[in-house]
Amino acid sequence: MTYKNIVITGGAGFIGSHVVRRFVKQYPDTMIWNLDKLTYAGNLENLKDIDQSPNYRFIKADITDAALMDQLFETHQFDGVIHLAAESHVDRSISHPMEFVMTNVVGTVNLLNAARKIWNGHFENKLFYHVSTDEVYGELGDEGKFLETTPYSPNSPYSASKASSDHFVRAYHHTYGLPIKISNCSNNYGANHFPEKLIPLMINNIMNKKPLPVYGKGENVRDWLFVEDHATAIDAIFHRGNIGETFNIGGNNEWKNIDLVRLLCRVMDTKLGRSEGESEQLITFVGDRAGHDFRYAIDSGKLMRELGWQPSVTFEQGLEKTVDWYLANQEWLGHVTSGAYKAYYDNMYTNR
Ligand code: NAD
Ligand code: TYD
Repeated sequence: MTYKNIVITGGAGFIGSHVVRRFVKQYPDTMIWNLDKLTYAGNLENLKDIDQSPNYRFIKADITDAALMDQLFETHQFDGVIHLAAESHVDRSISHPMEFVMTNVVGTVNLLNAARKIWNGHFENKLFYHVSTDEVYGELGDEGKFLETTPYSPNSPYSASKASSDHFVRAYHHTYGLPIKISNCSNNYGANHFPEKLIPLMINNIMNKKPLPVYGKGENVRDWLFVEDHATAIDAIFHRGNIGETFNIGGNNEWKNIDLVRLLCRVMDTKLGRSEGESEQLITFVGDRAGHDFRYAIDSGKLMRELGWQPSVTFEQGLEKTVDWYLANQEWLGHVTSGAYKAYYDNMYTNR
């Protein structure tokens, strides 16, 4: 199926920018509209290599503005939606939950309403694809993995807001027949990741010889996926997944935080010509995150079996590409860590 006008919300953010790039390059006959508010996490620098493409346009807009969403859907006649815009950081959701309700829940419902209005029951060749997280399933103990059938049990304000948005998307399919798809992905890493999240924060701090703040004992486990592989999974599901279905996406790549931080230290010591073990001395155990989920792990068997998706890189390859990107793009890091980032960092990590 081909689409004329796909709107990608949150396209200036970390994952969104990789999805925009993939779609702009892969589908030259489709207009790709990047709709983004440009919060602290959105950065058009992420797209400077493709922003002159004839099939790319940027719209600065806030998804919490219902009237504006209606107007934009009407004006541009979007026939495909890939919805990534969100407040995405768990620690921020603990200090400012209401922003998560507004963007993640209200913003999602505004988009569903706008799509429903202009599609007006004519749902052939239309699609609303909602990008979500594995965190909606809650936390795992030492064993097991999340399946598409795992009951929702979100624990943080962030995951509760994403779970709520998933429920609304599903309900619009069930109630109004809106053609939807949902994917729930594990932790991503790669280029253009804002340095408030574990991997880019550690890379930035190792580069600058700053303390490496590991929450609690560092024993929590996350399942890491290279961001470009998330983009290929979204492409596969968007074009070939069945309407109304959910797909889990993951890298089958679980790491305890402390082991991952130590690995990053080793990789970067080699790249920076530092002596063995030098950066590990920066590791500092700090107070734990409130309600910190112990373990996430995704079973992406359905996606692999039904759509033939496979990750393209091993973790070692992906991490090396990521570290190389940050070392080569210190100007980008300098821009995003100036101003408000410093206040955020001081507030989050001083006296933790
Ligand atoms: P991000 O924080 O890097 O980017 C979010 C983008 O949304 C930014 O460009 C921001 O400007 C935009 N945005 C925020 N509020 C907006 C609003 N009100 N109106 C319009 N635009 C707004 O996030 P990310 O890590 O790229 O995550 C993208 C999506 O993927 C989110 O929905 C997130 O829940 C989901 N997800 C993320 C991960 C991960 O590991 N990062 C894993 C699974 C799922
Ligand atoms: P994060 O990148 O915030 O992703 P999420 O909480 O959505 O999984 O954190 C990944 C893990 O790293 C999580 O267990 C919390 C931990 N963490 C630290 O130990 N120190 C830090 O400074 C950060 C940001 C995270």
